[in-house]
Amino acid sequence: MSDFSTRAIHSGQDFDPATGAVVPPIYMTSTFVQDGIGGLRGGYEYARAANPTRDSLQELLASLEGGSHAFSFASGLAAEDALLRAALKPGDHILMGNDVYGGTHRLVNRVHAPWGVELSTVEMSDADAVRAAIRPNTRILWLETPSNPLMKITDIAQLAQMGHEAGAIVVVDNTFATPYLQQPLALGADVVVHSTTKYLGGHSDVLGGAVILSDEELAEKVGFVQFGVGAVSSPMEAWLTVRGIKTLAVRMDRHSSNAHTIAATLEHHAAIERVFYPGLESHPGHEVAARQMSDFGGMLSLALKGGPDAAKKVAEGTEVFQLAESLGGVESLIGYPSEMTHASVKGTELAVPENVIRLSVGIEGIDDLLADITAALDHV
Ligand SMILES: Cc1ncc(COP(=O)(O)O)c(C=O)c1O
Repeated sequence: MSDFSTRAIHSGQDFDPATGAVVPPIYMTSTFVQDGIGGLRGGYEYARAANPTRDSLQELLASLEGGSHAFSFASGLAAEDALLRAALKPGDHILMGNDVYGGTHRLVNRVHAPWGVELSTVEMSDADAVRAAIRPNTRILWLETPSNPLMKITDIAQLAQMGHEAGAIVVVDNTFATPYLQQPLALGADVVVHSTTKYLGGHSDVLGGAVILSDEELAEKVGFVQFGVGAVSSPMEAWLTVRGIKTLAVRMDRHSSNAHTIAATLEHHAAIERVFYPGLESHPGHEVAARQMSDFGGMLSLALKGGPDAAKKVAEGTEVFQLAESLGGVESLIGYPSEMTHASVKGTELAVPENVIRLSVGIEGIDDLLADITAALDHV
């Protein structure tokens, strides 16, 4: 199966041989009967080690990202944590983009740094700055592209080469783009991480995360952390994520076209200082995004001329766009990053400007979405 949409529906999703059920069942079990000690029927013994429903999700994720191994976790941050534990030791340095998701920065800064990991951040879209920030002990370059919430674009192929020359592995958080729009491993990255909570799940009803990679040695270490620490996805959550992924391609097409229309329309609105959307030619990362993405996704941010008060008023003034954390679901959400998703980095160099609001554009009718956001903007 070579087509992405076909794999999204069929990879790892064989029908149930016992009953013929087209949709594989949810294996809601923590343990498995043994035919005599060590006599495992399907290779399964205990669900922290492996469960058939989790396996089906992992096989699907590996196929979509073009990796040979995928590991799914209880959340995006649990996935990131497992990768960091597997790849780093005290004294190693990790270089991150200076506008990565606040929780990712907090994880390294407050959980891993106290155990001896060195962290620094840099403007990842500036190759010279990245080259200067790499240290002899740099082991990970951590990219998020498009980034959350300022939609900065990093040239994955260029930084993969730079990271490899420095002896570092290159990790891409592919949550915003999804494998449908961007294939980091094919562009030269070593590892992809996801918050599957977002577009992959796609319906705001499940929490999850994933690590996908092809390097055997690192995969074995990530697998050991998954088993040894145990922050695995539950069968129910794995199954819901699989169900969401089946429609990923059609959802992403609609998310992208809705977001593009909104970005292009609002670019000229009197209340707007700037629209951050990589699909706009005015976006500084547009050219790179057009090269490495097949479309520009459903996320955009707006800087308001009227400052923080105007931004908060718009965030609280929409009806179809609901005020909530998170993103990537079929329903449109609006957020005020500096006090919501990115509150943990307030006052640091990762702080989000206080006149910025973020839209997760859903797949509702575009006329309703445009009318809703425009009405809120007309009132500031
Ligand atoms: C880009 C990105 N990466 C990682 C995460 C963390 O994922 P989770 O909330 O599933 O732990 C988020 C959550 O918002 C995110 O937006």
